[in-house]
Amino acid sequence: MRLERVAAHVPAGARLADIGSDHGYLPVALMRRGAIAAAVAGEVALTPFRSAERTVRENGLDQRISVRLANGLAAIEPEDGITAISLCGMGGETIRDILDSGKARLSGQERLILQPNGGEQPLRQWLMENGYRILCEEVLRENRFDYEIIIAERAGPVMYTAEELYFGPLQMQARSPAFLLKWQRRLRQKQRTLTHFARARQAVPEEKVQDIARQARWISELLA
Ligand SMILES: C[S@@+](CC[C@H](N)C(=O)[O-])C[C@H]1O[C@@H](n2cnc3c(N)ncnc32)[C@H](O)[C@@H]1O
Repeated sequence: MRLERVAAHVPAGARLADIGSDHGYLPVALMRRGAIAAAVAGEVALTPFRSAERTVRENGLDQRISVRLANGLAAIEPEDGITAISLCGMGGETIRDILDSGKARLSGQERLILQPNGGEQPLRQWLMENGYRILCEEVLRENRFDYEIIIAERAGPVMYTAEELYFGPLQMQARSPAFLLKWQRRLRQKQRTLTHFARARQAVPEEKVQDIARQARWISELLA
């Protein structure tokens, strides 16, 4: 379901770079459906790289999907004419670092389809600082995990508040049931953490307590 929701955000006819492709399921599924024109599957690690190669070969798509062993956006060349980049199933900080260190390879015309596993706040911060507007966001729950999908395109200066970076500017507006359930669960976690801190034998740094308390306050206000 997670990758199906990601797939739904890839524009029809895109030239897709799926970075951290692992098994290569996303570009292969999209190509089999005729939903994309071309794809690059990038992988930094040898075992998943071989796995992507195998998936592509077994589906007879060697001519349409190029599987490359490369770190982050180094998998992309200007002649690929990439129009969409997916970075899915990694921490938000990792996705941010891949985008940041590969900035020179971004033309600014690509749609970014991001599915961070946590670390959404620093990823949104990077998007804002680099002139990317968030066009669409969703939260979904699968196998007891809350996943977020963030779609962004470069659009010039954009400003989000600290709360918007934390919760997601569009999700704050839409308040979907999945979004509210995620934050209800998060609030309980934060409250449990604060209780543990209060009972801890060793003093927890005040800065850390204040940070969690601030997050709990923001979430309570959101859900009020
Ligand atoms: C958990 S898998 C996710 C696979 C797939 N994208 C998905 O969402 O199901 C993360 C993959 O990202 C790859 N990866 C991590 N850092 C990377 C980087 N800097 N460049 C390319 N691939 C990377 C890992 O080797 C791993 O195969």
